[in-house]
Amino acid sequence: MSANTNAPLSAPAPLPRLVPKRRTVNQARYEQLQDGQRNPLNGGQFSPEYSSIRSGFRGLPASQHYCDSSKDVVIVQGATGSGKTTQLPKAALFNELDHPRMVVVTQPRKLPTRELAQRLAVELDVNVGEEVGYSCKDERQLTIGRTKLLFVSDGTLLKKMVTDRTLRDVACVIVDECHERSVDSDIVLALLQKLRKESTRADLKIVCMSATGDMHKLKSHFEVDDRSVVSLPGHTFPVQIYHSNGPVSDYIAAARDRVANHVLHGSGDVLVFLPGQDDCIDLLSHLRGHLAPHLVQVSLLLLYRDLPVAEQSMVFEPTPNLRKIVLATNIAETSLTLADLKLVIDTGLAKVAQYDAANGMDRLLLSPISKASATQRAGRVGRTSPGTVMRLYTAAQYAQFETHTRPAILRSPFTETLLKLTVHGVRSMAEVSLPDNPTGPQLANASEELRALCLRDGQGSLTALGRQVRGMPVDPKPQIRLLEPDPVPGCGAGISGWSDHVTALSAFEAWRQNAHFLSVEACKEAERLRSRLENEMQSVQIPLIRADFDDPLYNERLGRAIVAGLFWNIAVKADAYSWQVKRSPGQVCTLDRNSLVSGDTGMVVFSENDPRAVLRMVTDIHPDW
Ligand code: CDP
Ligand code: MG
Repeated sequence: MSANTNAPLSAPAPLPRLVPKRRTVNQARYEQLQDGQRNPLNGGQFSPEYSSIRSGFRGLPASQHYCDSSKDVVIVQGATGSGKTTQLPKAALFNELDHPRMVVVTQPRKLPTRELAQRLAVELDVNVGEEVGYSCKDERQLTIGRTKLLFVSDGTLLKKMVTDRTLRDVACVIVDECHERSVDSDIVLALLQKLRKESTRADLKIVCMSATGDMHKLKSHFEVDDRSVVSLPGHTFPVQIYHSNGPVSDYIAAARDRVANHVLHGSGDVLVFLPGQDDCIDLLSHLRGHLAPHLVQVSLLLLYRDLPVAEQSMVFEPTPNLRKIVLATNIAETSLTLADLKLVIDTGLAKVAQYDAANGMDRLLLSPISKASATQRAGRVGRTSPGTVMRLYTAAQYAQFETHTRPAILRSPFTETLLKLTVHGVRSMAEVSLPDNPTGPQLANASEELRALCLRDGQGSLTALGRQVRGMPVDPKPQIRLLEPDPVPGCGAGISGWSDHVTALSAFEAWRQNAHFLSVEACKEAERLRSRLENEMQSVQIPLIRADFDDPLYNERLGRAIVAGLFWNIAVKADAYSWQVKRSPGQVCTLDRNSLVSGDTGMVVFSENDPRAVLRMVTDIHPDW
């Protein structure tokens, strides 16, 4: 379906509101502005290099179709490579040339946020940090009052909206890659729709873009019809997609063989999508061995979230005499263009955050990707020349993939989302609508839990404690444990018979000091989470106190910290074998047989009450704790 150029303007809203008439540049003007003598952004002369850069992106389809739409909400669907991410923000920017307000473009990840600002600065012939800037978690380059096109991560836009709810200095928000459905991007969509329905920012233009998103969902979320949908024609070079003939059991070996074959017999760069950071490192060492005689011709590069920025950026540096082999996680799945890419190898797997009730945190689980993700991965080739995609899964396996990536909001309890909404002044779910809303019981549980944790009060407002914990990367319960003024468990516990939690902590510490009897993957994950939490605590200036093992009060201090995090889950002994959970009177539970805890104090806290009423991860507590 194509954009309806003669569509009438949307009906006037019932309330009197000041809606300045929106200027729209047409396609001819859009091209003209970029082909003139002077830079439309700052009136300066274009640099001598500009004309050759300009010829690289002239006439991409995105701008034309977008320019024709005068809707307040535009939902853009266009194949990967059609120019959504790079051309459309410019069209939006040229619409606002006479206004002092910015165009803000969100990205689900930090790497493309920075990279796109750099690319757009080149296309607009300005320096990053001046007319074009970016801002993500711990990095920003922008000039207030001068920056007119700003790339941000979803999380950063949310942070901005805490203090600037109406986005005073923003004319247009473009939510890119909205198929990703992270908690943050869903909340962004909810808050934007809320703002749109209020009379204060009726002039705000909202654009959602994706190659693979669920357009029906977006249309109903924004309460718009087909006239708001802009479909872009494809603009890619031919791409051949091959599936494997049979199921692949060892994806590292399979990827290694495909890469080696391509290095020997093919041309151009290779991008391999692997589920996790460890897989990338693993494949790197395999390839070093396998390609030993050819290492002088190739540059083996890693690309995952926790890699330092300088190393991440190496994938974009031109290497005229070396062929790049990039081993990446799904961080490279969206918004990126690698100039000489000829082959994508896709394992069809990703590590997906899955809520683990036992410890109240997300765990990364190896899972098949969605069809939408597979399309995004394939869409990294064919952007600057023809390319090939080798899928390490069969066509039949592909057919079993879910169409869209399951929204993160539906994969975990609603507590975290409700806390985030509360941070944004949402007191009741009647005030907002998410693309996917929680069920009644999910919502009731979440609000009850936030209240019990003293994070949200009876009126639905954030408490002082709530303000401190917002932004931490785990479920609120374990956060409280870290925030309690009592000392926080740090290092060096002995194995003990009173607490499964302390036992787990001791085992983790033993692993840190080189023991090998635990799941390395789980420990590494715990280690990463710990360091993220430490950073967050530092950033909100909460002191990290390490408990001293020689302290006679060591157990008590740890015990108190555990109770502070789990007081919600208290059980008291009913008789020799059964326990009664305070929160659900009437339910008789037993302790997990694997628990080391004696239960002698007659009162425990637990992490999980499983469907068979077995309490798991238990700690003996004293009533005065
Ligand atoms: O967002 P979408 O996938 O629709 O496309 P895009 O990221 O805007 O890129 C459109 C086209 O611009 C790509 O297919 C490339 O041909 C070109 N491009 C490029 O050559 N170098 C970049 N760094 C970015 C885009
Ligand atoms: Mg894009």
